[in-house]
Amino acid sequence: MKRINQMEPWYGEEEKRAMAEYLDSGGWLTEFKKTREFEQMIAAYTGSCYTSVVTNGTVSLMIALWALGIGRGDEVIVPDYTMIASANAVVLVGAEPVLVDIDASTLCLDLAMTENAITPRTRAIMFVSINGRSPDMNQVVALAHKHNLYLVEDAAQSLGSRYQGKHLGTFGDIGSFSFSAPKIITTGQGGALVTDDEKLFSKIWRIKDFGRSNGGIDYYEMMGLNAKFTDLQAVIGIEQMKKLEWRVKRKKEMYKLYRDLLKDIEHLRFIDTNLEDCSPWFIDILLEGSERRNRLIHFLDLRGIGTRLFYPAIHTQPPYSNIKGDFRNSETTSERGLWLPSSLFLTDENIEVICKEITCFFQR
Ligand SMILES: Cc1ncc(COP(=O)(O)O)c(C=O)c1O
Repeated sequence: MKRINQMEPWYGEEEKRAMAEYLDSGGWLTEFKKTREFEQMIAAYTGSCYTSVVTNGTVSLMIALWALGIGRGDEVIVPDYTMIASANAVVLVGAEPVLVDIDASTLCLDLAMTENAITPRTRAIMFVSINGRSPDMNQVVALAHKHNLYLVEDAAQSLGSRYQGKHLGTFGDIGSFSFSAPKIITTGQGGALVTDDEKLFSKIWRIKDFGRSNGGIDYYEMMGLNAKFTDLQAVIGIEQMKKLEWRVKRKKEMYKLYRDLLKDIEHLRFIDTNLEDCSPWFIDILLEGSERRNRLIHFLDLRGIGTRLFYPAIHTQPPYSNIKGDFRNSETTSERGLWLPSSLFLTDENIEVICKEITCFFQR
């Protein structure tokens, strides 16, 4: 059997054809009409008024914070279990991330602990909908409103996931997505900001283009950077967006198949997932401890099946090791979690083989 990696991007003839057509048309490669078309597709899909695409999902989080005026002296609440970019973006704009433990049932911020962590310096909550899951988003919004805080949604993993039918990333002041290679759609690298606030959008637009509002005119109204996209990426992104609805459906089917095939293994557990709303980006499981997890990884690796460890808890990483607190859920999650092969091109037969090997491991 050919090796199955934990995750691979997927593109095909449609992307190749669209790229050839674009290059034949003599486009300027940098962001222009194709980028606007890609942005409109994202806005329409997520149901947001404005979308701006940028270089990646880390930069989009930085721009979101920057546009909200968050910087030196400000605190932003960030979950202790997330991809490190959520916390890094806060540091990179000069603010301070305040790490808060997660709720073990959703792997998202614990809202009671979030409220306890609010201080007079807190300006925003960065809510991360990890793997497309969320708690009651009305409560998240209410908490931010109650304390007069901005809500930035890091929805990097949530394209295609909703809460009660409303797309994740659209509950807060600004939502952020990523199109890095393993995401449900990819442009190689890439990120998007979504908002319903015209003023914020206009700031985002200027920040990503050196601080000017018009690409052709060299007048710089504010500080900015170059975080522009390219039409080359947009050409791929447009074709990937056309496949998104099918991909969302397939991710759900894959998750369900894994869950059904592994349901009788008592040492392995799935997180409660409402597949009506959530389209899990990665197939995630929790094991009883890191020792057994390591043996399973090795066992599968020998059989040509790739897996990936969950992210480390942020406070265990060198740039954040001075942060102390009660992080028991993020620590346990990070020690027990494993991502199984999740590429969209996996067939049901592939998944059956993977699950058979996992079952075999636990029966030994
Ligand atoms: C939750 C989360 N936030 C931010 C990022 C950063 O996105 P990018 O890799 O596009 O910079 C990622 C990437 O995986 C992510 O999963």
